[in-house]
Amino acid sequence: MFLGLDFGTSSVKGVIIDDKQKLIATASSPLKVSRPHPGWSEQNPEDWWKAANAVVKALRKQKPKAIAAVKGIGMSGQQHGATLLDKNGKVLRPCILWNDARSFAECEDILRDCPEAPAITGNVPLAGFTAPKLVWVRKHERKIFDQVAKVLLPKDYIRFRMTGTYGSDMSDSAGSYWLDVAKRDWSETVLKATHMRRDQMPELFEGTDATGRISDKLAKDWGMPLKPVVAGGGGDNASAAVGIGAVHDGDAILSLGTSGVLFVANKNFSPNTERRVHAFCHAVPGQWHQMGVILSATDSIEWLARLLKTPAPKLTAALGKKLDGPSSVLLLPYFSGERTPVGDSQIRGAMLGLSHESTASELTHAVLDGVAFAFRDCLEALRQAGTDVKRVTAVGGGTHSEIWLKIIATVLGIPIDLPAAGDVGGAFGGARMGMMAATGASYEKVCTKPKIAKTILPEKQAKAAYDAAYQRYTKIYPNIKDIR
Ligand code: XUL
Repeated sequence: MFLGLDFGTSSVKGVIIDDKQKLIATASSPLKVSRPHPGWSEQNPEDWWKAANAVVKALRKQKPKAIAAVKGIGMSGQQHGATLLDKNGKVLRPCILWNDARSFAECEDILRDCPEAPAITGNVPLAGFTAPKLVWVRKHERKIFDQVAKVLLPKDYIRFRMTGTYGSDMSDSAGSYWLDVAKRDWSETVLKATHMRRDQMPELFEGTDATGRISDKLAKDWGMPLKPVVAGGGGDNASAAVGIGAVHDGDAILSLGTSGVLFVANKNFSPNTERRVHAFCHAVPGQWHQMGVILSATDSIEWLARLLKTPAPKLTAALGKKLDGPSSVLLLPYFSGERTPVGDSQIRGAMLGLSHESTASELTHAVLDGVAFAFRDCLEALRQAGTDVKRVTAVGGGTHSEIWLKIIATVLGIPIDLPAAGDVGGAFGGARMGMMAATGASYEKVCTKPKIAKTILPEKQAKAAYDAAYQRYTKIYPNIKDIR
């Protein structure tokens, strides 16, 4: 048996799979994000630990024998968060998350002090990445900065709690902005330019490597007498890719979670920084990936759900199943700024075309369209980076809405495959990495593609209207970016 744990932004999910990769049990525990200032986004690392324990407890309650037989654990995690520890392993401040916009000025500092950084890291510095957050902490919380002995990504903090090891994997570390992505090693140049040292970084592993075993105490608390090994694991997107077998050049996934991601596996390091395509290591050895990242995907519909005091699934269900064309209202879903293609953490969202006739359902439709248009921006950016995407497999909580997938398929003009178990992507990928770390099996063997439950095709008669609406959408950002 193998356990996968996915540390998302809105919940921790856990899955157990058996030696044949059959899903034995799943559980989840919710998480909250705190926004102490506009544009800030934080979580308390202790809450991840509590949620992880709650998930294991729930799994154990369902399948005590399966939990007792766990030989390997793999974690997937929200990327980029800065978890700062002192020399005793104590957390120094709440974790600054991937969708926190505070460190925009520090991105300029990094470019000024280290013009070669984009070539090394494969990316232009963005406020979401970890390094600019540390430059911010140095500037604004110097006392804390001076005590930082280790910087860990969210899932790597849990590894530390589980095994006592300070370790990370290549895919997640690539998102720190301290990694030399081609060499799969920390970059002394970028570390130095951001006032950091190699000894403050965790040890690097491949996602499929064993990084340590859980402690005796935890083995007892969790009812896992075999003291499972913990795999390197991966960033959530790379882990989801492992989960659905997107490990070969050109395999693509569309992740519709809190963030939205269009992810493509590459056999080579393929940076293209201009349109803010991210180029990172994959979680499997010797592979890389590119991705376009939308900061607010399901987070956009959650905003409207809060406003209308109606749960998001109810809002989207009210649109029915048939797609005639786009909403008359256009939404730019930049609720926390945007990464691909604009790399602008200070911009905020906009709605265009509101009228006395605009109903709640028009606005819901506008939100779904806006996120679909943002995905189209990612697709175009990837195309400009020389990577075409002919079909994608969709994962993430948002895939429960078929109308949303229909809109996205229509706007992208490509088929979307929906795997039979759509919402376990990252956790399932984690469990696979746990399996590879425990057994030594190769990723080529383990990372098979899932059964496809359904393929969503573009809606032909709505395509022209959607293409026209997308053209209008692309004009919004250049025209509003200076109105602040
Ligand atoms: C990727 C990114 C997000 C987070 C959220 O660069 O920031 O997808 O990993 O889960």
